Amino acid sequence: MFPADLVKISASILAADFARLGEEVEEVLQAGADWIHVDVMDGHFVPNITMGPVVVQALRPLADRHQALMDVHLMIEQPERYLETFARAGADILTVHIEATPHIHRVVHRIRELGCKAGVALNPGTPLSLAEEILPDIDLLLVMTVNPGFSGQRFIASMVPKIIKARDQIAALGKDIWLEVDGGISTETVETVVRAGANVVAAASALFGHHPSPAQGVQRLRQAIRRALEPV
Ligand code: DX5
Ligand code: ZN
Repeated sequence: MFPADLVKISASILAADFARLGEEVEEVLQAGADWIHVDVMDGHFVPNITMGPVVVQALRPLADRHQALMDVHLMIEQPERYLETFARAGADILTVHIEATPHIHRVVHRIRELGCKAGVALNPGTPLSLAEEILPDIDLLLVMTVNPGFSGQRFIASMVPKIIKARDQIAALGKDIWLEVDGGISTETVETVVRAGANVVAAASALFGHHPSPAQGVQRLRQAIRRALEPV
């Protein structure tokens, strides 16, 4: 376990009001979100099309003002084609899906060459064992708790043992690897994933859209994280 403030909240802009994107991102960062999570979808790897490098570039100055990391989640086929573009646009972390490339080792090393932190994501149906050989080479492991493509989906609770196993494997390696969980994060599910060992939570609909304000969404999530890590 780790102090609650060490758990990063990565605000997924997928559920933000795109007509007011800058204001909403400013608001969540001011309220204590740590990272900006940008969900890039290509209509092939996932059945949805979202945003590209121009959004990363546009939000970069905001991230700098708040010392937030740009956490770019690439849900695209053959991510190797766009690594340089996203690195140039200002990504700090580039996370690629292990299912999207036959050359995950090459991709991870290319990301690092470009000066970014390298993340590897696993879909719910992908076993953790597939990431075993690449784990020592990465900065972040992303366990998906929904099938990627859309915000607002229901958390897949059967992924919790996978999070626990991932935390154990990271601990056994003794390396500083972030364990991020993405999909269906709410004030309830966040307690479970943080107790299971996640230290980064990506959240879209828990922050944007359905709350009195995005700032309150962040505050509620932070409180839930604190509750989860309180000694019993
Ligand atoms: C799903 C994306 C997620 C998504 C999360 O494909 O990778 O980051 O925006 O949305 P919520 O938090 O609403 O499940
Ligand atoms: Zn995501």
